Amino acid sequence: MTHDRLRNVLTSALLSALAVPACGGVVSEEPPKDGGADVATDTGIDTGTDVATDLGVCTPIPDAATCSEKVVYPCGLPFALAGSTPTLEECKSLCAPIKFTYGGPYSCGVYPTGTGGTSQTVNCASCAVGRKPVDLLDEAECHEEDPVAEALAAMTRIEAASVHAFRKLERTLRGLGAPASLVARARSAARDEARHARLVGSLARARGARRHPVRVAKDHVPTVFELALENAVEGCVHETVGVAYLEHQRAHAATPELRAMAEQLYDDELAHAELSWDLVSFFDQHLDADQRRALREARDHALSALPHEMAKLDGRVRVALGLPDAPSVGRLVASLRTTLYA
Ligand SMILES: [Fe+2]
Ligand SMILES: [Fe+2]
Repeated sequence: MTHDRLRNVLTSALLSALAVPACGGVVSEEPPKDGGADVATDTGIDTGTDVATDLGVCTPIPDAATCSEKVVYPCGLPFALAGSTPTLEECKSLCAPIKFTYGGPYSCGVYPTGTGGTSQTVNCASCAVGRKPVDLLDEAECHEEDPVAEALAAMTRIEAASVHAFRKLERTLRGLGAPASLVARARSAARDEARHARLVGSLARARGARRHPVRVAKDHVPTVFELALENAVEGCVHETVGVAYLEHQRAHAATPELRAMAEQLYDDELAHAELSWDLVSFFDQHLDADQRRALREARDHALSALPHEMAKLDGRVRVALGLPDAPSVGRLVASLRTTLYA
């Protein structure tokens, strides 16, 4: 699994999950569900289409009013895409009419605007979750008065637990004679997770959260199957889909600090997700057919649970952290089932 392919598949699935054709074929953004006044939200209507039609010109129309910047090409794209998903270079060219404040775009997606015409809309994404080890001992919730502080404290615990998960993974991979590159990537991921724990922990404490210790069963030596299961669920589902969440969060979180947090986690988590997928074939060599089938079933189950987990999340937390809503997660999962998880 290459870095670019994984990123493009996740970005493409996220953009398609957020852009639902509404009545009349107008592309609409995710509707604000729970009144998050601080969150940058779209009006829900892409007005660029009407302007273009009225003027009858082919000039690209940039719309930089929200974090999800768009460019409408009334007479179609100026060039044919090399593939089904625009490359970064193609995105840069297509999104050039927008003046990005913080650099960008990082990715983009192309959708037909309206029905029957040649107009195309380019969504330009410019604005900018963890691996829970099998032997994490307690699931104690991090009770805080502020629900966002509580969520950040819980996230800090998972980031800190992920350090342990990757260290154990590194030791096991070395013991199994895995390629040195896989061992090095696991070691690097542990360092990333330690940095994440410090970053998210500082944000949690800034909101008044206390420190919540992480306890793991240090003496437990996981079997290869246990580690492969952890990789299938935590890596190939939670860290992988977490990358798509982070892409949404870096654009939609309620404060600059939370958007910056998502931005800082994004590349690391993409690398961790990539490692997870690269580990699948390595672990498969050490498992029998029944175990491999069990892994795929567990992965499928974890994937199906994601929209329900998002639906259960406190709406205030979801809006503050800039996470996509449950219906969008449902569409994201459905889209990924046709690509990454096919
Ligand atoms: Fe991670
Ligand atoms: Fe992390």
